[in-house]
Amino acid sequence: MNKSIPNAIERVLLDEETITARVRELAAQISADYAGLDDLVLVGVLKGAFIFMADLARRLTVAHHVDFIALSSYNRDAVSTGAVRLIMDTRTSVTGRNVLVVEDILDTGHTLDYLVRTFRARNPASLRTCVLISKPERRQVKVPIDYLGFEIPNEWVVGYGLDYADRFRTLPYIGVLKREVYE
Ligand code: PRP
Repeated sequence: MNKSIPNAIERVLLDEETITARVRELAAQISADYAGLDDLVLVGVLKGAFIFMADLARRLTVAHHVDFIALSSYNRDAVSTGAVRLIMDTRTSVTGRNVLVVEDILDTGHTLDYLVRTFRARNPASLRTCVLISKPERRQVKVPIDYLGFEIPNEWVVGYGLDYADRFRTLPYIGVLKREVYE
């Protein structure tokens, strides 16, 4: 059953079929790259990545574990300074394992930069990043993306895990929020 488009959505940017097809491609690429490697652990960044992570993981043909981490910026202004707070760490250690960080969106880059630095310090066997959506215009820190779903313009998008004030996360597509909703 498809959810109807709420009033707050200006237009659909990436529909369900487009997202599904791209997730399938990413999963195929990751499965090929990690074939023969032991102990792949996907680390999803809560909350936003939970839907992307679930779809991606179910398409992988290589053995893997799933774990999660939750972060939060101290306040709105802190995002631009890169002040990130760890609110829930992974349940298992990543040391000596092949870590793939799974993010829904890369905006300023501070969150992923923090994660990459944090995980690197824990000496994983390898560390890569998989990001569904990137807004290159917004970047303040250069962060390596190993697997990227889509580049999009600088618009406020919701759905498929992405929220506005914790709303719209479970829309099956990614849509552009009307300006009047957040201005
Ligand atoms: C979003 C997103 C990333 C981060 C990206 O999380 O899920 O983790 O922002 O932004 P950045 O590149 O500017 O650091 P958010 O703080 O909205 O939390 P949520 O995932 O719980 O919605």
